[in-house]
Amino acid sequence: MPVKAWIRWMGQHGVARVVIRRAAKNGDLQAHILTDPEARRNPYPTYDAIRAKGPLVRGRLMTQAVSHDAVTQVLRSDAFAVGFDPETMPFLARHVLTRVAADERIVGPIDPPSLLVTNPPDHTRYRRLVSRVFTAKAVEALRARVEQRADELLDAMAAEPAGEPLDLVAEYASLLPVTVIAEILGVPLEMRRQFLTWGTMAAPVLDVGLSYRQFLRSEEALEKMSDWMYAHFDRLRREPGDDIVSRLVHLDDESGKLTNRELLAISGLLLAAGFETTVNLLGTGAVLLLRHPEQRAELDADPSLWGNAVEEVLRYESPVQATSRRSVKPTEICGVRVPAGAFVTAMIAGANRDPAVFDDPNRFDVRRANAKEHLAFSSGAHYCIGASLARLEGEIGLRRLFERFPGLTLDGTPRHRETRVLRGYSSIPVRFTTSTNRRTRSDAVNSSSDTGR
Ligand code: HEM
Repeated sequence: MPVKAWIRWMGQHGVARVVIRRAAKNGDLQAHILTDPEARRNPYPTYDAIRAKGPLVRGRLMTQAVSHDAVTQVLRSDAFAVGFDPETMPFLARHVLTRVAADERIVGPIDPPSLLVTNPPDHTRYRRLVSRVFTAKAVEALRARVEQRADELLDAMAAEPAGEPLDLVAEYASLLPVTVIAEILGVPLEMRRQFLTWGTMAAPVLDVGLSYRQFLRSEEALEKMSDWMYAHFDRLRREPGDDIVSRLVHLDDESGKLTNRELLAISGLLLAAGFETTVNLLGTGAVLLLRHPEQRAELDADPSLWGNAVEEVLRYESPVQATSRRSVKPTEICGVRVPAGAFVTAMIAGANRDPAVFDDPNRFDVRRANAKEHLAFSSGAHYCIGASLARLEGEIGLRRLFERFPGLTLDGTPRHRETRVLRGYSSIPVRFTTSTNRRTRSDAVNSSSDTGR
């Protein structure tokens, strides 16, 4: 019902929108990133400016942590929890938002009981149910499958007439992760493009201060995705498959069965996190390597560097720029006192450019010795469950792309996504030439120095 949707929007974004605009006018740097198009395109100077003010900077919206040390401490401290506590709201506002206007069917990535906003003991239970599917060992066993999927998509690209412009995001960077996660979760492959469409529409819900139109579009996508997932759970109840979602649907452990809302929160997040983030790793990785031919030459000369190159992409252009935490008791971060009930933005992407940890942090360097010290997958209790999978997809996806199309070039300016928490490209126009598009896997292994450039 539109009135209820409007109330939800006001509670989640409308009021914040007004506060953000005012704060930006008054010089608040975090609000500046949210409102200024140039700062959104290149937020790194603003991160530097906040970091220069100290480890924890009290802003008009939230307290901000940008140094590597402060972000790590916030993410790892048991004085902080995730999510919003409705008990802290005035009674009437709480009643209206959580009862009158709530839509129980919709569960977005930051709606409870999503892992991202759930605390122990529920968080511990949900994580235990799914994490073994994504351990480093379980993921390594998927290597051949991921390579095969990457090669199939590259074959399809190679079948296009050479010299024709292609969108690397639409043809490759988005399709590889959604195919892989759909297979792991046992979701039909023919739903891939539909999920991508819903994912793109819903991704802004991670941001604060959406317009009413953006909010309605996100809710529409989440509602359609929820309806599809509920019907999918019913199918799996009748005909279980050999996949993690089937196991969750039929689970009946000492804590009982999962409710439909819990099932949706867990599997919906795995699905969406599985492709909405890795697309950015592949897209930004490809653009960085296209713009830094000297770095590609390093990789051609020594392919063992690919793993480190992926870490450097994650550090340099973090696909998830920030997250937030709420202090549940008074504490201290880097010597600065934090009272209970404070909201802190942990600026992951700012921490990953901290000169105290990374020499010359604004230089993209696939050989950087400590690239892996980045916080792109967070830290502490909510450390990304899919980190091993993302690393595998990043390494295979980028390496295969450049081995197959050594003559790949940008054919225009890549376009950034509109989202703020998620950073990446919505389209990357590229072109490849006839002489360089047919190199096979074995050619690439035998002649890694033949770059065709
Ligand atoms: C480059 C790709 C990826 C990046 C940069 C990334 C980043 C992150 C970050 C920063 C968090 C923690 C947020 C916080 O601390 O508040 C997170 C959590 C999570 N990620 Fe990823 N992720 C990626 C890929 C994946 C993939 C492929 C999956 C699929 C399984 C996945 C599943 C999850 C889940 C389920 C959580 C919630 C964990 C929890 O709250 O306990 N992610 N991810």
